[in-house]
Amino acid sequence: MRSHYCGQVTETLLDQDVTLCGWAHRRRDHGGVIFIDLRDRDGLVQVVIDPDTPNAFTSAERVRNEYVLRVTGRVRRRPEGTENPNLATGAVEVLTRELEILNRSEPLPFQLDDDDTSEEVRLRYRYLDLRRPVMQDRLRLRTRVISALRRFLDQQGFMDIETPMLTKATPEGARDYLVPSRTHPGSFFALPQSPQLFKQLLMMAGMDRYYQVVRCFRDEDLRADRQPEFTQLDIETSFMDESAITELMEEMIRQLFKDVMDVDLPNPFPRMPYETAMQRYGSDKPDLRIPLELTELSDLMAGVEFKVFAGPANDPKGRVAALRIPEGSKLTRREIDLYTEFVGRYGAKGLAYIKVNDVTTGREGLQAPIVKFLPDEILAKILTRTGAENGDLIFFGADSTKVVNDALGALRLKIGHDLNLVKGEWAPLWVVNFPMFEWDEHDQRWNALHHPFTAPRTDDPAEMQANPERCLSRAYDMVLNGSEIGGGSVRIHRQEMQSKVFELLGISAEEARTKFGFLLDALKFGCPPHGGIAFGLDRLAMLMAGASSIRDVMAFPKTQSAACLLTQAPAPVTEAQLRDLNIRLRRTP
Ligand code: AMO
Ligand code: AMP
Repeated sequence: MRSHYCGQVTETLLDQDVTLCGWAHRRRDHGGVIFIDLRDRDGLVQVVIDPDTPNAFTSAERVRNEYVLRVTGRVRRRPEGTENPNLATGAVEVLTRELEILNRSEPLPFQLDDDDTSEEVRLRYRYLDLRRPVMQDRLRLRTRVISALRRFLDQQGFMDIETPMLTKATPEGARDYLVPSRTHPGSFFALPQSPQLFKQLLMMAGMDRYYQVVRCFRDEDLRADRQPEFTQLDIETSFMDESAITELMEEMIRQLFKDVMDVDLPNPFPRMPYETAMQRYGSDKPDLRIPLELTELSDLMAGVEFKVFAGPANDPKGRVAALRIPEGSKLTRREIDLYTEFVGRYGAKGLAYIKVNDVTTGREGLQAPIVKFLPDEILAKILTRTGAENGDLIFFGADSTKVVNDALGALRLKIGHDLNLVKGEWAPLWVVNFPMFEWDEHDQRWNALHHPFTAPRTDDPAEMQANPERCLSRAYDMVLNGSEIGGGSVRIHRQEMQSKVFELLGISAEEARTKFGFLLDALKFGCPPHGGIAFGLDRLAMLMAGASSIRDVMAFPKTQSAACLLTQAPAPVTEAQLRDLNIRLRRTP
């Protein structure tokens, strides 16, 4: 049907015949000559139809935007002065001999090259939105990402094995999407939040190296980088410890960036303990492209009279920290007010600051309402610790450790972007030495920071039970530009340890049996030491494409409220379907 894609028609094809298929992007009548920009997924080329070919000309007169055409003609150089340097095909055009209208199109609900079309309209007519070159480029990039990753894993001897979608709950911290069973009235499948348990079972089955490009389902609050169904590159290995796994995985990501984007990532990736990340960046996924850091002040403030600082400084769950902004004293009152409002969203009750006019003249050189509450030696120590220079501004956070980290961590990112401080393009790192457990104030119980199958650093269950808050895990996260793109761990491979972890998490022996009995059994029959990781493919593609939302690298994403505007899913079902499933709704909506 065709000889080339539109985007391939360049000077190399001069004086050759080509047959192209595509959409009429735009048609222009130039006094007797008709120009059509013909578009396909590869690009756009100018097609010329003149009245010397009357059949083609009559057809061309009927062409409207988005008509589907088949065109045969000869490639020629554009007349001097009419070249378009912005187009790969801009030096040539196709002089048409035959033009066939393969299909017509009604006027589109929006203009494809209008960048201001609302996302609602774009999602409703996603098949049209996807015709836009920018979307086609993003999906093509995603394809290349997936195939580069597969190539690497295939070469490394990984087996691509599918795991069930209709399964039992896998705890990854979100709500499950449930599917009622018709054949087992009153029972439900859960769609997997991840294939975690199956991939561990595959290691127990001796598969040694597994991977899968797999859909995961999580009913959780959505954000720009979260979707209810998303794709993981899921990986598991046997007989490899955390250093072997992380080395192989960063090798894969380096290779990916080299293959797809010709970017050289650092070798090795930096590694940072969780504790350091929280201390210096207020986040377990720091964006290292931003050269701002938090400075610990809790110990300095314990003795001051200023209650706002002394309170949290003396509270074991509190923190006082500073964020120095180089040349920040040029921030206006209004800008500081906006930042105060911004940190308020993270629970901060205020945002104290000091403007540093002159570091050499003691308190005289400092300007701020709070200066009068702080003694000279404390002010001096703040300046040395933060490394303040003339013209800087120092922000302060004093609250529970969580609020200070969240607020100053977010402020660090915001100011970094606002003041154009972002340095370099790619900053990958591993965050390691995560705590094993996290105390849940609300429910008064321990939660697993990663998931309950992650191995602790200690092999001794008693040591773990004695000091859960101090117990570190064998988990690792890969972070890229402030985004968590992958997370994994070495797993528990002994039944005794697994049972103890369940116990610590408040999962009774009975509950463990009903929920994870198959895993506990499998652990008894010669389970190899194993570990793995899962990458968020959508997030990775989003970062590589320079997109601001994972929706932009997914063909058919859902909205913020987890609905599909294109198909209008989810939707009510008939009474008969419900009856088949043995379901009666509590309330008809
Ligand atoms: P985790 O829950 O950290 O680990 O998920 C792995 C990676 O998946 C991505 N991700 C998401 N992407 C889009 N939308 C979401 N709702 C979403 N949730 C997670 C993130 C994350 O780093 N079974 C473990 C992995 C393991 O231990 O091997 C797991 O699922 O990029
Ligand atoms: P106040 O004594 O409440 O007037 O606060 C004095 C200064 O401290 C103001 O600049 C407040 O924005 C700031 N502030 C108040 N609470 C906090 C807090 N928890 N953390 C940081 N700064 C605060």
